Amino acid sequence: MTVTEAIHTRRSVHSYDPSKKISDEELEKLITLSTLAPSSFNLNHWRFITVKSPEGKEKLHAASLNQKHLLDASAVLIVLGKIDAHEDIDLFTEDWISKGYYPDDTHLKVVAEKFYGTRPEIQRDEAIRSTSIMTGVMMLAAVEMGLSTAAVIGFHADKVMEDFHIPENYVPVMLLTVGYELNPMPERVKRLAVSDIAYDEDFGRIFSA
Ligand SMILES: Cc1cc2nc3c(=O)[nH]c(=O)nc-3n(C[C@H](O)[C@H](O)[C@H](O)COP(=O)(O)O)c2cc1C
Repeated sequence: MTVTEAIHTRRSVHSYDPSKKISDEELEKLITLSTLAPSSFNLNHWRFITVKSPEGKEKLHAASLNQKHLLDASAVLIVLGKIDAHEDIDLFTEDWISKGYYPDDTHLKVVAEKFYGTRPEIQRDEAIRSTSIMTGVMMLAAVEMGLSTAAVIGFHADKVMEDFHIPENYVPVMLLTVGYELNPMPERVKRLAVSDIAYDEDFGRIFSA
């Protein structure tokens, strides 16, 4: 399957076969592939809680306005972004330097201490931004693995934080249902045309090929 085919095939799936399980090996493969996605300064802001048990899914269902696909999916991933990921920069510094990306740790220290360290709103933006890019990659990797997904943001974050004992330095970016589609592939819903969304050189000047 090409990336183009995966992009065309992916849909947000809301009806899953509840009898189908997903193995931990499949989830590990999915997470491994997805986390080859880029992240700002390679800080790997993402964390996951894999929820497969009926009890766990029931808690997510209750916290998510009773969206049924949370119960029927083989697994639901609670996708977290680490707000203070810049404090982990030492985990990556040696790697950057040994591979010749940076001559020493001067620049990375400035990034951690000044660019992120003094700006809480940027820390949170970054946790959400880098983790969201990863989740997009995950959706495509899932297609190639024969799995369907759907992102869910309709949930009470406080409830999910409490129920799953998530520390305050993490933001629950989204839930991602993962499973096996029950119905034929849903029809693609409308997208705006390129001429509605892309501008050429200046905002408002319509781009057209
Ligand atoms: C960040 C994000 C959050 C979403 N949250 C929900 C949700 O809470 N419930 C839901 O049913 N669909 C949710 N969706 C799915 C969108 O409705 C869906 O992506 C959109 O209608 C386009 O359809 P497609 O993904 O099949 O192309 C979400 C999608 C994204 C990207």
